[in-house]
Amino acid sequence: MLVTSTPVLTRTAPVAARLAAPGAAWTRTCDVLVIGSGVAGLSVVAGLIGSGLDVMVVTKGALDAGSTPWAQGGVARATDDLGDVEAHARDTITAGAGLCDTAAVRRLAAEGPAAVEALVARGAAFDTGPDGKLAQTREGGHSRARIVHAGGDATGSEVQRALTAVLATARADGHLTIAENTYLLDLERADDGQVTGALVASLGDGSVGRVLARATVLATGGLGRVFAVSTNPPAMTGDGMAAALRAGAVLRDVEFVQFHPTVFAGRAVGNQALLISEAVRGEGAVLRDARGTLVMAGVHPLADLAPRDIVAAQMAQVMAANNVDHLYLDARGLGAAVLEHRFPTVLAGCREAGVDPVAEPIPVRPAQHYSCGGVAADLDGRTGVPGLLAVGEVACTGVHGANRLASNSLLEGLVAGTGAARLLREDLPARRPGAVSGPSAGTDPGARPALASAMQCDAGVLRSPQGLAALASLLDLTAPTPGGTGTLAAWEATNLHTLSTAIVVAASARAESRGCHRRTDVVTPSDAWAVHLDTTVVPGTTGVVTTTTTTTR
Ligand code: FAD
Ligand code: SIN
Repeated sequence: MLVTSTPVLTRTAPVAARLAAPGAAWTRTCDVLVIGSGVAGLSVVAGLIGSGLDVMVVTKGALDAGSTPWAQGGVARATDDLGDVEAHARDTITAGAGLCDTAAVRRLAAEGPAAVEALVARGAAFDTGPDGKLAQTREGGHSRARIVHAGGDATGSEVQRALTAVLATARADGHLTIAENTYLLDLERADDGQVTGALVASLGDGSVGRVLARATVLATGGLGRVFAVSTNPPAMTGDGMAAALRAGAVLRDVEFVQFHPTVFAGRAVGNQALLISEAVRGEGAVLRDARGTLVMAGVHPLADLAPRDIVAAQMAQVMAANNVDHLYLDARGLGAAVLEHRFPTVLAGCREAGVDPVAEPIPVRPAQHYSCGGVAADLDGRTGVPGLLAVGEVACTGVHGANRLASNSLLEGLVAGTGAARLLREDLPARRPGAVSGPSAGTDPGARPALASAMQCDAGVLRSPQGLAALASLLDLTAPTPGGTGTLAAWEATNLHTLSTAIVVAASARAESRGCHRRTDVVTPSDAWAVHLDTTVVPGTTGVVTTTTTTTR
């Protein structure tokens, strides 16, 4: 493999070298530290059962505080029809708009059916059809129905439930410790950069502790809360990505933030926007404007089932042209029985907000949903930083490229979590002494709402150089200052500022439109930009640099 790197944009607006926190009051030791308890983290734990390794899971809130339990549409996996593994890979690569790692995609597609079977064997109850076989639906970008689901549109909560139940087995053999309400602050490192564990804060009593580990697995999910409107739950503040960047890891392709086309316009509980699953379009719903005109007609051969980036961009353009802040998803054609049976979560959410999808179109608009970029890693979690693995949404493994194919994320969590566990069983680094170094800094939590709104406006579905420049100025004004308050609010605000910086730097550098990165000044993709953008902290400073990286296999 040949890797060529060229620096393209350096930004010296400071990011914190470490979060401000009191000194460590306690120390724990384990073999493997898993940070995060969604589909990816719990898949690692499940894969380590019986290995004899001492595993500690640290998670920010309750076990189910991440995105996993919110997943609606399902888990994509090739059907047992001849050629569907290849077709699943092809659809993934097409959606990824030229930036997928084809070997990683082929592995994801090939391992998909076994990953779902293993989850079923662990007790996950997916919906079945009249023939007793797993029911399958379709979503955007898929050339056929291959998505399995549970509880109609409550797939994630069943995945989370099944994997959480596995923990009981792991606990019984005495090798598993679980620390809920425990927050990753920073990664500890040896002199040569190897990650040797983490500094964490117990949110209950406010104490800070060290967890020393031979390997540390980041499974901390996405960064949705960078944006004012997101489908992600409140815990998704990108903490793992920011800590990895501070520890010398590469953040890859962070400009590719996926905006889901159909998010309920107007209702948000705890600032979390209600998703209207793409599977609703998979079952026949269509997007219309206020006059009833079909939004996707003639835009793409798959019309309403085009890949997500194409639908979201078309919606943003129609909304701008019509000067409106939402369009409509017309699901009336599905009928009451189908809506009630297949989409109970969506139906209940809409009805609570005063809209009955059986009788009227649902007001929708695109909103932040998923981070295609993240800590550069392979599908076994290897990051390039010794001792540090990354799995799930926190990672960028090349399977999503510039735009994730629908329902490939839960699948990636299952496959990469299992791959990382296999790797750890075979190859665990020796224990080393380490520490967190560098001066601490923090962003004022009071700056967070304005920054999130500005990111929403200027780094959303459509981006312009002027908007990105305005964001850069705001990032300068809200940059972390030395010291800091050492509160959860300040830690999250600091991490969000760091990730906003990384997104703005990469989005400013990428002078093209590709996948879910759309620039109003250059509206097409360019061959010259068919490269990854890697963001790192500049050694010796706390600014960030973005580098183009071309990988030739
Ligand atoms: P998460 O499930 O987000 O878990 C992250 C974990 O890390 C959490 O336990 C969190 O508390 C913990 N954590 C975070 N920060 C810290 C910290 N500082 N210290 C300690 N712990 C921390 N994908 C699909 O494939 N199919 C779908 O149908 C689908 N529908 C979706 C619907 C919604 C509404 C949303 C929001 C997402 C959906 N996705 C879907 C995407 C998918 O759910 C996520 O990408 C996936 O669940 C991420 O899993 P994960 O294990 O990487 O992270
Ligand atoms: C959805 O149900 O539309 C979400 C699917 C996904 O994010 O993969």
